[in-house]
Amino acid sequence: MKLAIIGSGNVAYHLAKAFVENGVSISQIFGRNESELQKISGELQIPFSVKNLENANVYIISVSDSAIREVSKKIKNSDVLAVHTSGSASRNALNGNFRKGVFYPLQTFSKSRVLDYSEIPFFIDAENENDKLLLKNLAEKISKKVLFADDEMRKYIHLTAVFACNFVNHLFSRAKEISDSQKIPFDYFFPLIEETVKKIHEIEPKFAQTGPAVRNDENTLLLHESLISDEQQLKIYKTINESIKKMYNL
Ligand SMILES: NC(=O)c1ccc[n+]([C@@H]2O[C@H](COP(=O)([O-])OP(=O)(O)OC[C@H]3O[C@@H](n4cnc5c(N)ncnc54)[C@H](OP(=O)(O)O)[C@@H]3O)[C@@H](O)[C@H]2O)c1
Repeated sequence: MKLAIIGSGNVAYHLAKAFVENGVSISQIFGRNESELQKISGELQIPFSVKNLENANVYIISVSDSAIREVSKKIKNSDVLAVHTSGSASRNALNGNFRKGVFYPLQTFSKSRVLDYSEIPFFIDAENENDKLLLKNLAEKISKKVLFADDEMRKYIHLTAVFACNFVNHLFSRAKEISDSQKIPFDYFFPLIEETVKKIHEIEPKFAQTGPAVRNDENTLLLHESLISDEQQLKIYKTINESIKKMYNL
C-alpha cells in the first residue's frame, strides 16, 4: 500500500513522524510550502513535491479546514482512499470521486514538541467497512487507542477539545499576562497547573473545583476585580465566575 501525506503543518509533520517511527513508509509528502516540506523531508527521509502529486492508495490530507475541499481536488484517481484530519469538517468536505474518510487524532500538535503517539486517541471514519478496517489498521500502527466516530460525534469531540484544551491554554496565556505584569515568574505556577490536570484523572472536574467563586467568597471576587485593569481579563474573570456559581447553584 502506498501512503501519501498532503500538507506540511503541525499535524502533517507529526503523522509523518509517527508513521516513520513505527515502520510505515510514506511514498511522498506533498504541499505548497517548499521550505517546510524540505525540513520534514530532510528529517524523516520522505520524498516531497510542491508540483506533482504521486499516485498512492491512501492520501492523508492535513491542511487547514478551509482548504480541504480545494486541496482534495488534486486527487484525480477514483480507486483511492482520501482522508482528512479535521475534528470539525465533515467527511464530505473532501471533494472528488475517490472514497472518503477521516483520520482525526485527538491531541494538540506543535512541531517543536515530542509526543507519545501511542497514547493519542485516533477517531476514524470511512464510507465502507473495508476502508474503516484499513484506517483502523493504519492508525493502530501508531496508537493503542483507535475508535470510530461519524461526523456528528466527531464535531462534539472537537467542541469538547476546544473547551478542555484551547480555552484552558488561553487562560494560561491570560494568567501569564497577569504574573508578567507583576514580574512574578510563571514557573511558580507549574506545580499548581500540573496538579489541576492530574487530579481530574481521579476526581470528576465538577467535584475538583476550588477557588473563591465556588466558596461564594464575594470579598475576594471584588478584590480581584479591582486588581484587573485589562478589559478582556475582567470579562473572562466575571464570565467564568458566573458560570461556576450557576453550576453550583450559588
Ligand atoms: N494542530 C492541532 O492540534 C490539530 C489537532 C487535530 C486535528 N487538526 C486538524 O489537522 C488539520 C491541519 O492542522 P494543522 O494544525 O496541522 O495546521 P497548520 O499547522 O496551520 O498547517 C496547515 C497546512 O495547510 C496548508 N494550507 C493552508 N491553506 C492551504 C491552501 N489553500 N492550499 C494548500 N495548502 C494549504 C498550509 O500550508 P502553508 O504552510 O503554505 O500555509 C499547511 O501546510 C486541520 O484540519 C486541523 O483541524 C489539528
